[in-house]
Amino acid sequence: MLIVGGGRMGEALLSGLLAAGRPASDLVVAEVFGPRREQLAAAHPDVPIVDAVVAAASAVIAVKPGDVPGVARAVAGAGARRVLSVAAGVTTQSIEAAAGRPLAVVRAMPNTPALIGAGAAAISPGSAADEDDLRWAEEVLGAVGVVVRVPEAALDAVTGLSGSGPAYVFLVAEAMIEAGVLAGLPREVAATLTMHTLLGSSRLLTDGGATPAELRAAVTSPGGTTAAGLRELERRGVRAAFLDAVAAAAERSRELGR
Ligand SMILES: NC(=O)c1ccc[n+]([C@@H]2O[C@H](COP(=O)([O-])OP(=O)(O)OC[C@H]3O[C@@H](n4cnc5c(N)ncnc54)[C@H](OP(=O)(O)O)[C@@H]3O)[C@@H](O)[C@H]2O)c1
Repeated sequence: MLIVGGGRMGEALLSGLLAAGRPASDLVVAEVFGPRREQLAAAHPDVPIVDAVVAAASAVIAVKPGDVPGVARAVAGAGARRVLSVAAGVTTQSIEAAAGRPLAVVRAMPNTPALIGAGAAAISPGSAADEDDLRWAEEVLGAVGVVVRVPEAALDAVTGLSGSGPAYVFLVAEAMIEAGVLAGLPREVAATLTMHTLLGSSRLLTDGGATPAELRAAVTSPGGTTAAGLRELERRGVRAAFLDAVAAAAERSRELGR
């Protein structure tokens, strides 16, 4: 399998696949920038790092969106039967058109926690991608996180939710740290408590089998401290702010894709 583009996302996928047990001899990375090739070769000495697209049946396209059409044409010309593109905003239709010959295309919207193997990605099939191609894409992205399937029309909503989502969480983290400082805690203490509150709460959400509403009710005693804090968040419209934030980001994604 060929990975085109050894940037942050390409290297994350490479590392994830190797960690998942994929033999280095199954993988090749094409990277145009010489110094970056040297870094990749040093970090992954068993994986061939080349300077241009080479023949491979399957290819992952992890280059900047503007470079995708040229790369799609090159991989199709080199004999690829299927590709997985992680480029934001580039449609399967435009990749199929750029390829110039029949090609199974799967498009994904990953997010940055993929860089530490904790990503959340959605994938959509192009017109010629079948079940087998989707399973292949799930295996590749599954090496760096969870993968769900959605119709391509839903990828703008995915971008607004999980693509931009890490930034929303980072904003919440900043605000909670400031709030801890205001309440009298030293900054490092507030930061440690905030980050591990987010981590621990996320683990309860993903591992515990309870819904967010159930988990919240379980820590909200009648007339207690948490109820007083939650009343302020509701009064300030935090819930509505998230509805508007995801809708605005999805709309912006739609605009950029046009
Ligand atoms: N980073 C993320 O978390 C994230 C999340 C969601 C989606 N994405 C999408 O994933 C894609 C890659 O993102 P990234 O963050 O990894 O970007 P990046 O760090 O800029 O990586 C792109 C890499 O591809 C190389 N490249 C460009 N054209 C090439 C070609 N023709 N052949 C071989 N290599 C080529 C680039 O080299 P040069 O620098 O020399 O051009 C660069 O190393 C983007 O389309 C982005 O929208 C990324």
